[in-house]
Amino acid sequence: MNNRNIIKGFSKLSKEEKLEVVSQFFDDPLQVKEELATYWHKDEAKQKLFDEFSENTISNFFFPFGVAPNFIIDGKSYMLPMVIEESSVIAAASKAAKFWSDKGGFHTRIVDMQKLGQVHFIYPGDKQKLYKHFSHIKRKLIQDSESITANMRKRGGGILDIELVDMTPEMEHYYQLKASFNTVDSMGANFINSCLEEFGKSLKAYIQGNDDFVRDEKDVQIIMAILSNYTPDCLVEAWVECDIKDLDGIDDEMTGETFARKFSRAIKIAEIDVYRATTHNKGIFNGIDALALATGNDFRAIEACGHTYASREGKYQSLTSLDLSNGKFKYILRIPLTLGTVGGLTSLHPLAKRSLELLGNPDAKELMKITAVAGLANNFSAVKSLITKGIQSGHMKMHLFNILNSMNATKQEKEKAAEYFKTETVSVSKVQQFLNETDDV
Ligand code: MEV
Repeated sequence: MNNRNIIKGFSKLSKEEKLEVVSQFFDDPLQVKEELATYWHKDEAKQKLFDEFSENTISNFFFPFGVAPNFIIDGKSYMLPMVIEESSVIAAASKAAKFWSDKGGFHTRIVDMQKLGQVHFIYPGDKQKLYKHFSHIKRKLIQDSESITANMRKRGGGILDIELVDMTPEMEHYYQLKASFNTVDSMGANFINSCLEEFGKSLKAYIQGNDDFVRDEKDVQIIMAILSNYTPDCLVEAWVECDIKDLDGIDDEMTGETFARKFSRAIKIAEIDVYRATTHNKGIFNGIDALALATGNDFRAIEACGHTYASREGKYQSLTSLDLSNGKFKYILRIPLTLGTVGGLTSLHPLAKRSLELLGNPDAKELMKITAVAGLANNFSAVKSLITKGIQSGHMKMHLFNILNSMNATKQEKEKAAEYFKTETVSVSKVQQFLNETDDV
């Protein structure tokens, strides 16, 4: 095997040395080094903070940090911070915010806030005996983890419950400790994982130190102790609601009634068809991820959870639903969201801190509500466009500057193009043609 490309001790090199190694992968190493260094923060202390977020940092990768104004959520007005590269997302969120602002705004409700974790273990013994001892085991698990849970308990959280789950029908001798937690305003990953690892040790110590268990039964193996990113009981609902007749005027070619019926069919399709459901839900995560990123939250955890939740009935489905009863249009998003407003990047990343400040320093519950609203807003705008004029005209207009930049258009050309494409359909070839013709002028 050719191991020439294996670099030993890379993580121990300084940032400059790493950059030197990396630059050798390019045809123009000098230029690459210079280019990547231009993205370092000019304030060394700030750059050090970014360097230390992760291993092997060589530069910063810029993403736009924008805002969507005019959100009314439970009667309170907000400007949402959003970090997203897709050109149309903030425009879509803003449009929905404005549209619903004079129709009562967005409404929300926290269903529950429970986080979950598991200790997966093998116990090759008498099942009844394990269950008989479980109340003592549980007490010991809670007692042994008291030093870990002390601070969280002071803040009103901690361990909610620990269950013993018999998984032996799935795999021989396999059991779980399934624990639920309240982590208050933190996402709580480190807290939960520390508790779970302690539970694993305590469980083993209890069984090995108790004479009721025979020698073979003491051979307990902790396979792993880890939180679950699937938290169906950390759930929030967001909805918008108005009389169907108040939708008149939403589109030049449809009455409110026709719009509502067509919207309803679009939502039904996202229930029936997994291909559509995936894209429908992607539009929800456009808003949710942008807000999660802006506030320093873990968007991978949020997405993983949301997609599992969308499959909870055995088939992947839309996360939204529509109720058209009693002459009303009520559009609802129900989604599990594990978010934090303290700890992790939320307080370390200077812009995440600013995002939270812009939102009025919400607690985790309020941030769940705001984030669900961002998801609903983006999805509403997407479906509205899809069932009326289609999304491409808007998307391509937003994308115009990306196309112009990719063609190295000058400031003047961009200004002229922006004017010209106000009334023309945008496409790559049309923009190219426009620039060629503009050059000729
Ligand atoms: C694009 O990022 C998102 C949409 O495809 C969502 C949807 O189709 O509902 C527009």
